[in-house]
Amino acid sequence: MTGQKTSAWSQRFEKALHPAIERFNASIGFDIELIEYDITGSVAHAKMLAKTGIISAEEGERLAAGLEQVRQEYREGKFTPGTDAEDVHFAVERRLTEIVGDAGKKLHTARSRNDQVGADTRLYLRDQIKQIREQLREFQQVLLNLAETHVETLIPGYTHLQRAQPVSLAHHLLAYFEMAQRDWERLGDVFKRVDISPLGCGALAGTTFPIDRHYTAELLGFAGVYANSLDGVSDRDFAIEFLGAASIIMAHLSRLSEEVILWASQEFGFVTLTDSCATGSSIMPQKKNPDVPELVRGKAGRVFGHLQALLVLVKGLPLAYNKDLQEDKEALFDTVKTVRACLEAMTILLREGIEFRTERLAEAVAEDFSNATDVADYLAAKGVPFREAYNLVGKVVKTCLAAGKLLKDLSLEEWKALHPAFEGDIYEAIAPRRVVAARNSYGGTGFERVRAAIESARSRISL
Ligand code: ARG
Repeated sequence: MTGQKTSAWSQRFEKALHPAIERFNASIGFDIELIEYDITGSVAHAKMLAKTGIISAEEGERLAAGLEQVRQEYREGKFTPGTDAEDVHFAVERRLTEIVGDAGKKLHTARSRNDQVGADTRLYLRDQIKQIREQLREFQQVLLNLAETHVETLIPGYTHLQRAQPVSLAHHLLAYFEMAQRDWERLGDVFKRVDISPLGCGALAGTTFPIDRHYTAELLGFAGVYANSLDGVSDRDFAIEFLGAASIIMAHLSRLSEEVILWASQEFGFVTLTDSCATGSSIMPQKKNPDVPELVRGKAGRVFGHLQALLVLVKGLPLAYNKDLQEDKEALFDTVKTVRACLEAMTILLREGIEFRTERLAEAVAEDFSNATDVADYLAAKGVPFREAYNLVGKVVKTCLAAGKLLKDLSLEEWKALHPAFEGDIYEAIAPRRVVAARNSYGGTGFERVRAAIESARSRISL
């Protein structure tokens, strides 16, 4: 767009900006992302100005219609503001004035870009939060579907990345369901702080005009208005909270990614990557690489960085608005894009990108000492104090290791020689399926518990 060469903001300036400074100052290159929210916010502001008699009803209508035309032109690619517009707010106002004439110059009455940009960002974030929450639901659905088919599939459970106790694969997957559930709830909570209107706070101190802040808030669907104008124009807590919630989502996705990467390795061999989500190597023809989870793991760092950037951005800022705050946007936009892309990719990966190698998993849980706790529990259930039983089993494991045997390979005589309380049912007690099935405590991996957990999970997400 071509505009007059004098500065956009005031006649106080005699000379035009240095072109490099103009580019340096401009945010239009990225805040164009807010254009539709800016227009929506301005339509509400214009309506409020007309309702309160600050401008005439006719002017209010012309402004609203003109703004909708700007929206249409933008959507059709006919309006593409350049850096001379400085930012999206100036760009829209300028184009509006070209369309509706002098009435356009009244739009900015009783408003500042400071409260305007705050409103735009909040409108944008409200939309994005809703969409991310929907994506989380989809991700949870896929986890549940996968869990449902794997209730009785066993997988080694780890602590310290050492085999600890076998668990139901569904139980393992449901752990991620719970994380996603907290993410969904956390975003709902953040939404409450995003959903407050700063419009009408003006530059910092409010305005001399008889505005109706509650009316603009109502038109834009905000749940409330900022109580303090200085706070309203300078608060970015809502953005930081969002970045915090987004960072936690990324941490969860990254943990899952790390597991998939391990599982797909030859060393674990628990999953096969299907062709639709894995990539090859340009030099080693035998390779199938887990690029999707690797990228998600990598992108987590980027989002954590944005959170850090915003915290540092606000920590030394005196009240109220400072131009530093313009720097919040790229961090926010990139976070939104990154989280959304990662959620989408991980949902697809779980839906069609990995296949669990159930035979390999069955072998894995049968060939280790992850049933040792169950031997101790067996003795404890027969009255042997647990610590004593624990020490005894430690010795048994040591003997087995020296003999190259597993617990299941010991003969009944050998068991009895270790402790007279052992009976023939010890074999049943240490069989992996039984080991898992027996952990029926609330929140545990027992099959019945897991089935109930899936059911309760389904009803929680359908609320
Ligand atoms: N582009 C600016 C931003 O994103 C809009 C607000 C400018 N306000 C000002 N007083 N210069 O923060």
